[in-house]
Amino acid sequence: MFRSHTCGELRLEHANSTVTLAGWVQTVRKFGSITFVDLRDRYGITQLLFGEELNSQLDANPLGREFVLQVTGQVQERSNKNPNIPTGAIEIKVSSFNILNKSAVPPFTIQDDTDGGDDLRMKYRFLDLRRNAVKKNLELRYAVNRSARNYLHEHHFMDIETPFLIKSTPEGARDFVVPSRMNAGQFYALPQSPQTFKQLLMVSGYDRYYQIVKCFRDEDLRADRQPEFTQIDCEMCFVEQEDILNTFEGLIKRIFKDVKGIDYTDKVERMSWEDAMWTYGNDKPDIRFGMQLLNLKFPAHTFPGRPSISNLIDGANFGVFDNAETVVAIAVPGCSEYTRKQTDELTDWVKRPQIGMMGLAFIKYNADGTLKSSVDKFYDEARLKAIAEAAGAKAGDLILILAGAEERTRKAMSELRLEMGKRLGLRKENEFKLLWVLDFPLFEYDPEENRWVARHHPFTSPKPDQIKTMIDNEPSIKDAARYLEHPYANIKANAYDMVLNGNEIGGGSIRIYQRDLQEKMFAALGMSEEEALHKFGFLLGAFEYGAPPHGGIAFGFDRLCSILGGSESIRDFIAFPKNNSGRDVMLDAPSTIDDKQLKELSIATKLND
Ligand code: AMO
Repeated sequence: MFRSHTCGELRLEHANSTVTLAGWVQTVRKFGSITFVDLRDRYGITQLLFGEELNSQLDANPLGREFVLQVTGQVQERSNKNPNIPTGAIEIKVSSFNILNKSAVPPFTIQDDTDGGDDLRMKYRFLDLRRNAVKKNLELRYAVNRSARNYLHEHHFMDIETPFLIKSTPEGARDFVVPSRMNAGQFYALPQSPQTFKQLLMVSGYDRYYQIVKCFRDEDLRADRQPEFTQIDCEMCFVEQEDILNTFEGLIKRIFKDVKGIDYTDKVERMSWEDAMWTYGNDKPDIRFGMQLLNLKFPAHTFPGRPSISNLIDGANFGVFDNAETVVAIAVPGCSEYTRKQTDELTDWVKRPQIGMMGLAFIKYNADGTLKSSVDKFYDEARLKAIAEAAGAKAGDLILILAGAEERTRKAMSELRLEMGKRLGLRKENEFKLLWVLDFPLFEYDPEENRWVARHHPFTSPKPDQIKTMIDNEPSIKDAARYLEHPYANIKANAYDMVLNGNEIGGGSIRIYQRDLQEKMFAALGMSEEEALHKFGFLLGAFEYGAPPHGGIAFGFDRLCSILGGSESIRDFIAFPKNNSGRDVMLDAPSTIDDKQLKELSIATKLND
């Protein structure tokens, strides 16, 4: 028997029993003639006491950090208890020990506040994974995985695996491709998601499918994006949007309960995409706090039907506002006493290239009711007050105003709002707020290619009452500058995103299931008939054999875990992640392959300059 107990389970009630433990040496502390060793395994740390009688053996076999050690001894009460660890009341009085393996000195300390930098820890990820902080994250990930599987199983979902070597049909991101040895000159692609397979499974009659599955996307990486990541991927047939929203609210609430012990009894809020853009400047708003946007000025076609209140700023001969497409403001609570230095710092913040604004205007609505502003040369106190109040400000608040081109300004204000929310502590780590964002546009306009692209993916159906608009109109855009006037610009998708604390954790849609509508969709995206057949003939064919109405959703599993674990980076929740250049620095991948392999694949490499 290698061990009788783990390093995390012995308590005072075990005193006087003889036990055998095995684990890794965390620390060795010598006090005169006795030696204390902290022994660590996945379950915890237990203190070992080597008495004087073992000194000569220890001298002959010195212990070092991360040595793998087996000890036998008696559990005894500690005189100097450590209340911070569960085994802190006892120690093992070692009677014999066996060094199972030695360890080189690790390149960083294996403890919570390690001295190892990111790169070093990634290079030695197998050591990093020994650290408690990382282990906790993987435990959380496993808890989310179990909870999701239990819920889905209880709701009759069936886990069905789908292939990884598939056909390249890039739409959103780029594909990762794999050369085929047996089919010279041809390539498989790794799936960006199992989208078409799960739809085919619906045609096959497996009416509730799920898979916790790897997806591969060759796209620019960020803290919340990895080139290979995991989805909780689901599909159902004979459902409408409402059924899907209910089923998957249930899934996330169950995960909250199982993993965090949170009873999420609030109704999950719902918001249209347009409302989200209008009120928060963003399609994944963090609704844990207010600070909503005041739209002082905006292009009429962007939000048709919304009343303009530009009279609040018009006619003051202030060029920056007069010439801007969009002017938006937020009221930041309790910040009217910001100093010059603080407002300058905020101005620099919005001027950073990532935000890209030319400047920032502000109004201080002082506690005594007076107003002071960076634009008071142009606006008298009455107008400043009108703007402040329209933004929902009270005395004591600071109003921040951005002006510029629509898309950039709205996005910048959204970022500024999040930043101010963070600075004011309004984005509380342990508060979770779910939101459904609905009614996304079906299409987006791609100015470079002068064509429509699918905002979600080409299998998403339009809202039922807008199918006719899609069928009755041709996709061609005659005047690129006026693409918003094309009927396609206003078609809404039967699609939904789930947002948690300002992060898109999942997205899905009700699908097209009729061949002719799917063909129309491919044509709308600028695909010729031949191309559509070449890429998606299998799906179009399947739709002719009794395809049921269906829809689904996929959750970003890594993202969900990182939010539940209170981290901004999904890497912390992936056992072996890639760095921001898509490299696995431990494996040193990607790497070149040898000439023999290339020859077998009938491939010659020639790098472009
Ligand atoms: P979508 O592309 O929206 O939908 O992806 C679903 C969810 O996956 C997560 N996600 C990512 N996580 C980490 N790294 C990435 N590179 C990455 N890309 C996406 C996000 C996102 O919400 N087949 C459709 C789903 C469907 O229609 O059912 C799909 O893949 O949290």
